[in-house]
Amino acid sequence: MRILIGITAGIAAYKIPLLIRMFINAGVEVRCIMTSDAKDFVSPLVISTLSKNPVGIAFWNKETGEWNNHVEYGEWADVLLIAPCTANTLSKMVSGACDNLLLAVYLSMRNKTIVSPAMDLEMYQHPTVKRNISVLIADGVHVIPPDHGELASGLSGEGRLPEPAFIFEEVVKYLSLGQDFLNTQVLVTAGPTYEAIDPVRFIGNHASGKMGFALAENFAARGASVTLITGPTVLRTEHKRVQTIHVTSAAEMFEAVQRHWLDMDLGVFSAAVADYRPIHPAEEKIKKTNEALSIELIKNPDILAWAGKHKTATQRTIGFALETNNAVENAMEKLSRKHADAIVLNVIEENEKCFNSDTNKVRIFDVNGLSLELPTASKAKIAQGIVDYITRIRL
Ligand code: PMT
Repeated sequence: MRILIGITAGIAAYKIPLLIRMFINAGVEVRCIMTSDAKDFVSPLVISTLSKNPVGIAFWNKETGEWNNHVEYGEWADVLLIAPCTANTLSKMVSGACDNLLLAVYLSMRNKTIVSPAMDLEMYQHPTVKRNISVLIADGVHVIPPDHGELASGLSGEGRLPEPAFIFEEVVKYLSLGQDFLNTQVLVTAGPTYEAIDPVRFIGNHASGKMGFALAENFAARGASVTLITGPTVLRTEHKRVQTIHVTSAAEMFEAVQRHWLDMDLGVFSAAVADYRPIHPAEEKIKKTNEALSIELIKNPDILAWAGKHKTATQRTIGFALETNNAVENAMEKLSRKHADAIVLNVIEENEKCFNSDTNKVRIFDVNGLSLELPTASKAKIAQGIVDYITRIRL
């Protein structure tokens, strides 16, 4: 799926980076065009970094002499979303004016255009704007109505750009972007766990949560209701269909999984759970009085194995495996010992790291003896590949 986002000069342009991230995390390819005044509201550097593509602004780049081919943009995109769409751009779209790259692309679009108008209360109520919106609807443009609420002018009323999660949902709904997990309850574990040594120290690992968040967002984009149970992470998701539960230790993660598992259809366990925890965490900060220090550890509950053992005939469990030697053999052993329906093995090659990186390479093995390798790609793409694979196991 390829989305072209047109950004015009409205204060609400500050919400677009979040929206871009949501599409990227759902495995959608994103390119952006900005009007030249939109640059005053959000930096093209932010937009190009998040969309992972250069931003089109003018018809041609005066320094390189390169042409931004509006026809090529129009053919490339499955959908053009203009957000925020100012009163000025609405009126030019109605008249067929073509004095910037975005308008030329609008006129060259093969596929659908969606606009999300945002402006001040009185402007939005103006009969000219209302008329322009009706004409665009008659021309086949899909209009996402603005929200009520606080406006940049200080007034309150209709005209606010809806939150990114809402726009995302609207576009997804409109494109019926594979709603193959509709009415499905999915539990995802993500991130590391921290096991307290004393009030300020812990045993942890380098997991960032990126893989688990990418999975949660991909499931949600495909219609699932997701319960994301994550260890400590800086990541957040805006997705309306993701309920995030923040935990710290393996024991807390286990408790949260036990509380929700009964209602789930599927569990994907991507958290890097600490296998052991200090048996007696100190109540006070441990003083460095001794030359050596021993900390007695006790095994943590195995969350994936518990869910595998307690699943009903229709529930499915998918685990991950992180191995540094005999990778395939150990992954297969975990698949069977933890009663999983499939196991996703991180393929760790020279210079490859799966912890905290933006990319991953994996091999999936399932109980039917099938396997699939997903080559190095962004974690969003890997998540999409894993979720695609899971649709097979569900059958
Ligand atoms: O978060 P990122 O930085 O994006 O990194 C992603 C990742 C590398 C953490 C992820 O891709 C991954 O591999 N997660 C599992 C890492 C791991 O702990 O593997 P393991 O082989 O030790 O565990 C096997 C499986 O049992 C995993 O599904 C794990 O979640 C589960 N497990 C392990 C121990 C335990 N006590 N409870 C569990 O549920």
